[in-house]
Amino acid sequence: MHLDISDVSSFGAFTSELSALLERWGASRLDVVVNNAGVGVFGPLEAVTADDFDTVFGTNVRGTFFLIQSLVPLLAQGSRVINVSSSLTRHTSPATSVYSASKAAVEALSRTLAAELGPRGIRVNSIAPGPTATDFNGGAMRDDAGMRQGLAGRTALGRVGEPEEIGDAIATLASDGLRWMTAQRIEVSGGALL
Ligand SMILES: NC(=O)c1ccc[n+]([C@@H]2O[C@H](COP(=O)([O-])OP(=O)(O)OC[C@H]3O[C@@H](n4cnc5c(N)ncnc54)[C@H](OP(=O)(O)O)[C@@H]3O)[C@@H](O)[C@H]2O)c1
Repeated sequence: MHLDISDVSSFGAFTSELSALLERWGASRLDVVVNNAGVGVFGPLEAVTADDFDTVFGTNVRGTFFLIQSLVPLLAQGSRVINVSSSLTRHTSPATSVYSASKAAVEALSRTLAAELGPRGIRVNSIAPGPTATDFNGGAMRDDAGMRQGLAGRTALGRVGEPEEIGDAIATLASDGLRWMTAQRIEVSGGALL
C-alpha cells in the first residue's frame, strides 16, 4: 500500500483500506508499527527556509504523530510502536538543526504516547540510528568515501552502520524479549561521538 505520510488528509482512507485488508487476511489487528519514513533538509541556520522547516517537521513529526493517531484503533493489546529518531538528538553536527529538532520531537512524543497507550499494553520506543549507509541525504553515508572515513573516525566501532543493523535492532525491540521495555530511546550508532 502506498502512503505519503506528509499528507495527513489521506490517513482516514488509508486506515480503512488497511483495516479491510487485515480482515481479509484474518488478522484483525496490527502487532507492530514502525515509523521509519523520514526526510532531512540540511544547511546552516541562514540557509534554511520556512518551506524546508515545514517539509522536515511535516514528514518526521506531523506525519508520525497523526499516523499513530489513525492506527491506534487497529493496534492490538500488547502491540509495539517503534519510531525512528537519530543519534543527532544526543550529539551535534553543524547544519543539522531542523532535522535534529524534528527527531527530538519524535522522541518526546514517543515517551508521552508510551504513557498514554501503556494501559492497553502497547509499548512505544524510539530507535536512534547513527550514520548509516542508505539513500539518506543523497546516499552520502554510503557513497562519499571522505564522509564515511570522517564519521568512522568518530565512532567507537570505527565504521558507519549498515541498514540491516538498524533493521535487526528494530526487530529485537519488537520481540517479546523486550516486552517490559517502553518509553525508551535506544541508540544504534556503533558508539558515535561518545
Ligand atoms: N541513514 C542515516 O544515517 C540515518 C541516521 C539516523 C536516522 N535515520 C532515519 O532513518 C529513517 C530511514 O532513513 P534511511 O536512512 O533509510 O533513508 P532513505 O533511504 O532516504 O529512506 C527514507 C525512507 O522514507 C520514505 N519517505 C520519505 N518521505 C516520505 C513520505 N512523505 N511518505 C512516505 N514515505 C516517505 C522514503 O520513501 P521513498 O523511497 O518512497 O521516497 C524512504 O523509504 C529516517 O527516519 C531517517 O531520518 C537515518
